[in-house]
Amino acid sequence: MDTRDWNQTAASACLRTGWAGRELHFKEVTDSTFADADRLAAAGAPHGTVAAADRQEAGRGRRGRDWSSPAGENIYFTILLRPDWEPEQLPLLTLTMALAAARAVREVTGQPALIKWPNDVVIRGKKIVGILTELKELPPARISAGTEEGGRAGTDGHQRFVMIGTGVNVNQKEFPEPLRQKATSLYLETGGRTDRSALFAALLQHFEEAYERLEADGGFAGLRPAYEALLANRDSHVRVLDPQGEYEGTARGITDRGELLVERQDGSVTEVYAGEVSVRGIYGYV
Ligand code: BTN
Repeated sequence: MDTRDWNQTAASACLRTGWAGRELHFKEVTDSTFADADRLAAAGAPHGTVAAADRQEAGRGRRGRDWSSPAGENIYFTILLRPDWEPEQLPLLTLTMALAAARAVREVTGQPALIKWPNDVVIRGKKIVGILTELKELPPARISAGTEEGGRAGTDGHQRFVMIGTGVNVNQKEFPEPLRQKATSLYLETGGRTDRSALFAALLQHFEEAYERLEADGGFAGLRPAYEALLANRDSHVRVLDPQGEYEGTARGITDRGELLVERQDGSVTEVYAGEVSVRGIYGYV
C-alpha cells in the first residue's frame, strides 16, 4: 500500500483554501468518513471540516449500496457544512460538489470529465466520482457547549448540518466485473498515477469557490451555465426511472433549482427532481 501521496501531512501541505478542509482529520483506516464527520459535528467542528481516509471498511454509496474503498488507491472524504439555508436547497450542494470535482479532474489530469446529472462525474461515459449528501439534525443536548460554530439552530432549537461524502477513483487498477462496464479510474484513463493530495486540494479549492458563489447568489443561477457546459446528458436521450412511471425524453439542461429538464416526445418539458428518480442513458450508463 502506497500512502505517500495521501496522508495528513501531504494533504494539508497542498491545501490552498480559506476554510474548506482547513480543519482536516485524516485516518489511514476508518469505517466511513461519514461516521467521522458525524462525530466531529457533534463535537462542534466548524463549517468546512473534512474527514478523509485512505481506506474505508464500511464505505457507503447512494440507495443503500456499499462504496468499495480499497487502500492506497483512491480519495475518500466527507466535508461538514453548516449552511444557513432551507433543506429544499440542499440538492444544490451536491451539484456544486459535482461541478467542483469535474473541474478539479480536468485541471489536474486534463481528462474530459463531465457530470452525469445530478452528481456523478464521468470520463468517456464511465463513473469516476460518486457523491452522497446527508442532512443531519442534533438535539440541543448532544452539542458541545460553548461552540460558536455549533451550527444554525432551527426554530425547534435543533442544530442542522450537512455532510457531503465524495469518493474519487484515482489510482485503482481494476474493477470487479459487474462494475467494469460503468466505472473507471484516472489511472485506467491516463495510464499513470495521479497525486491524490494535489487532486484533493484542487477539488476543495473549486468547491470553496463554487460554494461562495452559491451563497452570494442565493441559488444556482450563477453556477448553472458552468454546470450545463459540463453536463454529459445534455441533448442525449434518457430514460427517467420515476416510481410513478418510467418515461423517455431528451435532457435539455437544468433549472435554477437543480432539476433536470427533460423534453418529452409531445414537446412538453418535465422538471425532474433528483431525490425522486434516477436517469439512465438509453445506449449506456450516461
Ligand atoms: C455514490 O453511490 O455514487 C456515492 C458514493 C459516495 C462515496 C463516498 S467515499 C467518502 C464518503 N464516505 C462514505 O462512506 N461514502 C462517501
